This record gives sequence, C-alpha cells and structure tokens, in this order.
Amino acid sequence: MLPQPTVTPLATQLLAAARAIRAVLDGQSLSAHLEQVQAPLRPAIQALSFHAMRHLGLARATMQALVPRQPSDPLVRALLLLGLCLLEASLAHADGQEQAPGTPIYHQHTLVHQLVEAAAGDRRCRPAKGLLNAVLRRYARERATMTAQLMLQAEARWNHPQWWVSILQEAWPRQWQDILEAAQQPPPLALRTNSRALTRAALQSHLQAAGLVCHPVGIEGLILESPRPVREIPGYDQGWWSVQDPSAQRAGHLLPLADGQRVLDACAAPGGKTAHLLERHHIKLTALDSDAQRLARVADNLRRLNLQSEDVTLRCADAAHPADWWDGQPYDAILADVPCTASGVVRRHPDIRWLRQPDDLGRTATLQANIVDALWPTLAAHGHLLYATCSVFPQEGERQVQAFLRRHADAERLPAPGHILPGRDHEGDGFFYALIAKSQ
Ligand SMILES: C[S@@+](CC[C@H](N)C(=O)[O-])C[C@H]1O[C@@H](n2cnc3c(N)ncnc32)[C@H](O)[C@@H]1O
Repeated sequence: MLPQPTVTPLATQLLAAARAIRAVLDGQSLSAHLEQVQAPLRPAIQALSFHAMRHLGLARATMQALVPRQPSDPLVRALLLLGLCLLEASLAHADGQEQAPGTPIYHQHTLVHQLVEAAAGDRRCRPAKGLLNAVLRRYARERATMTAQLMLQAEARWNHPQWWVSILQEAWPRQWQDILEAAQQPPPLALRTNSRALTRAALQSHLQAAGLVCHPVGIEGLILESPRPVREIPGYDQGWWSVQDPSAQRAGHLLPLADGQRVLDACAAPGGKTAHLLERHHIKLTALDSDAQRLARVADNLRRLNLQSEDVTLRCADAAHPADWWDGQPYDAILADVPCTASGVVRRHPDIRWLRQPDDLGRTATLQANIVDALWPTLAAHGHLLYATCSVFPQEGERQVQAFLRRHADAERLPAPGHILPGRDHEGDGFFYALIAKSQ
C-alpha cells in the first residue's frame, strides 16, 4: 500500500507559526527561524507568519485595546497576535473585502477553535485558553467599530512602525502610501535568464511547455504568474536562470563594462549580481564579502550557473579596509551593492519592518559611507562605480550619494535611475542606483 500523505492539523501549524512570530518579536529574522522548521511544515508556517508580519501593526493595537494587562508569556502574546491577524482577514473576507493573493482564510468558528487547540498544545499557553477564546470572540463581535478607531493610529493603519511611516511621508510626500501598500502584497517570482546558457525566448518556451505561465520583464527577466518551488522550475540544475527581482536585474546593465576589464564586486553575496556581470561579460572579477557563509553561496551559485573560471576570485574581507585585500592594481569598474536597511524589499521579507530600529538607519548610512570612501581610491581614473541599495530611504540613497559627491571632487555623477519606488506601476522591489565616474 502507498504511504498516505500526512496532513498537519491546523492547531499544530498555528502553534508553530506563533513560535515564528515570537522569534521575530525577540529580534530573530524570520528566514533564520523558518530554516529550523521541519521542511514539510515550512510552506504553511511561512504563509501564516508572513501574513502576521504584514498585519502586526493592527493586531498589536487591537491587543492593547482588548487586553489592557498583556499576557506575560511571549508565546501567548504571539499566539494572540496571530489569531487577531487571521481573524481580521477571515472576517474582512466574509464581509466581501478583497484580500491579497495567498491570504490564509478560515471559517471564524473553526479558526477560534483551532487557536484554542493550539494553546492547549503548549504547557505555557494552556492557562491562556480562556483568555484567547474570549478576546477573539469579542473581536469578532466588535471588529467594525473597533478597527475604525484603531486605524487612526499610523502603525495600525499601515502595519509598519510609526518611525518608518514618518520617514517615508517626509521623503516621498506623493508616493508614501503606494510604497506602504506595495509592502502588503506578496511579491512575484522573477527569474533572470542566464544568457550564456540560452535566450529568454527559449527559456520562456521551456517554462510554458511545463505549464508555467510567465511574461517578460526588463532585458533578461521573466515573471511567473504563480510562484513555484524553484527546484520544480525547468532548468534549475542546468543553470538556465537565477531568481532575481526585476529591480536588481538592472545592475548588470547599468555598470559600463568591456571584456577583459578588472572588476570588483565589493559586497557580492549571495552573488545574484556577480553572476549577472559574468553572464554578460568576459571580465576578471573579484567578488568580496565580509560574511564567509554568505560568500560560500556565491561559489555555489556560480557553480550551478557554470560561471566559475580562473578569472573569478572570491575573497572574504571587509570592503572598508582595502589594505587587507587590495593588490594595488586599480579596478576599471566597481559594483558597491552595500548593506542597507533593506527597506525596499519588505514585501519579500515582511519581518524587516519590525526588526529594524530607528537607530539602524544612521548606522547603515555610516557603514555605507565608509565602504564607498574606502573603495574610491581602488578605482582607476575614468573608471565607474555603481552604488546600489535595496532601500527606499534617501539617507541610504540620494542623500548618501550627494554627500559622497561633496567629499570627492574627482567624482562625477552619470545618468542612472536613482530611487526606484515600489508601487502600482512597478513590478520590482524598491531600489537605488547611482553611477559615478572618476574624472582623473
Ligand atoms: C545587499 S547584500 C549584496 C547582494 C548581492 N550583491 C547580490 O546581488 O546577490 C550586501 C552584502 O554586503 C555584505 N557586507 C556587509 N558589510 C560588508 C563589508 N564591510 N565588506 C564587504 N561586504 C559586506 C553582506 O554580507 C551582504 O552579503
């Protein structure tokens, strides 16, 4: 007899998702936590916890309104927050309000029952079963009037921290609402064709033959209409494509390169843009990253894409200290895809908004300035530096580059997109690009 597929009870999934939420509230990244979850359970826990991250602002405000004395156990709080997020979506759906694709929707009574069952499954949550039941049922009764009132708070209305909303309001007076709305939508799965292996048209034919509907984006990109686990997409083992957001795919076309040039990819891991540069040009490339584990992923990706060669050097080093790694020969081109708050990719990593603290922005901006200042002397006269971040905060983009130009008289700004803002008319993540040439 064939083994029967096992279906994990909803209560078990809910408890596991509450543990994921608790981990984020403790400061751990959701992707790091999800890696520890058993593989068969992971997609369901990811869907539940991603939904909770996208609606945590309203859930927190609701919990504060309904439970003035917060439960002391962090797992109970996480389970309650999860319950409020899921109940809100299910009730809104029942009221005919459109929900984002993939939103987990349940029947109200089933959901409350399963959340109480989930609490029963953990020793510390068990005493809170009655509280959970009472709070969720009250929310179901009073939701309409209560949410109208709570939505007056920016954090509840936009499901981002107040400080984050304020930065966007100031920086983007016309677009801030679109940026915040875009963060609530699950992102599309975008591929970049490995142009060394095949053309985009050929890749699209292979995907369509496998029943995957997709449309072209940018120069080598394809967007899949419905996401799939990557290993189920034709050509993974053959290295026909990489997963890469359309905004990130622009880097490989913005940095002017010619075959034979010496190129530095200063913050390379996991190697999405490194591979793109190598697919397009026969260059001598040094890929640097300060994180050894992440740098190992560059090697894996280049191997899968058949892009390894003696012209490619991987170095684990701090880009801000060239004395440790630079051989003194200037580079013709540098890609500085510097570490940032990742405020442009919150739809892919919905936990980021809750993990970041207001002070982080100043810290990353200083780190970025140190890195580009240190890289500048390693660039040859008439060479190009492409500065990139996946952030929508001007402190890491436009303002950062303006300050750099003030510090370096031999730096000249060339045309590049600047801030790319996520929103209605744009399928890609939030990004920033500045191209800078060295005049002498
Ligand atoms: C935005 S990610 C790079 C993404 C990569 N370019 C890609 O397209 O796949 C930034 C990277 O910078 C690395 N990093 C952070 N500080 C660094 C430093 N001081 N020197 C070199 N790399 C650094 C991080 O480990 C991280 O891998």
